[in-house]
Amino acid sequence: MMLDGKIAVVMGAGSGVGRASALRFAEEGARVLCADIRPEGIKETAAAIEAAGGTAAAAECDVSKEADVAAAIEAAVAQFGRIDIVFNNVGVPTPRLGAKLEDHTAEDFQRLVAVNFGGVFNGCKQAVLQFKRQGGGGAILNTGSVAGLVAWGGSVYGATKGAVHQLTRAVAIEGAPFGIRANAICPAGMPHTNFMAAGGLTISGDAREKMVENVGATHPLGRPITAEDCAEAAVYLVSDRALNITGVLLPVDGGYVAR
Ligand SMILES: NC(=O)c1ccc[n+]([C@@H]2O[C@H](COP(=O)([O-])OP(=O)(O)OC[C@H]3O[C@@H](n4cnc5c(N)ncnc54)[C@H](O)[C@@H]3O)[C@@H](O)[C@H]2O)c1
Repeated sequence: MMLDGKIAVVMGAGSGVGRASALRFAEEGARVLCADIRPEGIKETAAAIEAAGGTAAAAECDVSKEADVAAAIEAAVAQFGRIDIVFNNVGVPTPRLGAKLEDHTAEDFQRLVAVNFGGVFNGCKQAVLQFKRQGGGGAILNTGSVAGLVAWGGSVYGATKGAVHQLTRAVAIEGAPFGIRANAICPAGMPHTNFMAAGGLTISGDAREKMVENVGATHPLGRPITAEDCAEAAVYLVSDRALNITGVLLPVDGGYVAR
């Protein structure tokens, strides 16, 4: 098992990539603190982990609030004794998907920055503080996006993800002398998660199937990216098999940015 004996905190564990990763981390032997702003989501994820024979706890947490993030990490330490992995996976979409730069209100801008960049800042900071308190290093994983690697639409969203990428590299360099690694996964569009609905896209049935097919067709490999694809990359990057890998921004994109 790749994460045997590890303690992981997964932010945004109530849905999509966070849920799939929490489940995979537990399958690989980690005990997992599932954190999310939606309490129902994390209860379901934690219950699914326990039902499969794993060990999980749940903590309600708004990642844009530093005190919430600190409390989630403290809860994991109180329950499991230490932490080894923090996955800062929360991101919210551009409100009204398809909105142009000039369509963003000041509130839209502030929310995207506070959750997508601020949340990852809070998670990295609290992880580093805890890793240094307990000693022995640790692994941070952040969720960036293809939208932070290329200009792809969603101008402010993409800029927050570009900031996440740069923060990841900075934390990797600052953390290296302490055995702290920091990497990011950079997914392309994942039509199966709740992300697009959070951006106001509510389609179902044939129209949804067509949209999934169209998203897949934009990738050289021809398939849409799934939360499970991201979870596989996440398991590897937070595991000791990646002990000499840090500062990496790994596209999970079917070849999208390689063209
Ligand atoms: N789905 C895509 O097309 C796509 C593409 C590239 C990158 N991403 C990124 O992948 C990550 C996961 O997205 P997903 O597709 O699984 O989305 P999702 O909407 O299915 O899951 C996001 C989770 O984050 C939680 N959340 C939202 N705001 C929060 C906050 N302030 N504090 C704590 N939790 C909060 C939600 O409740 C939800 O459970 C995000 O960082 C997103 O930006 C998604």
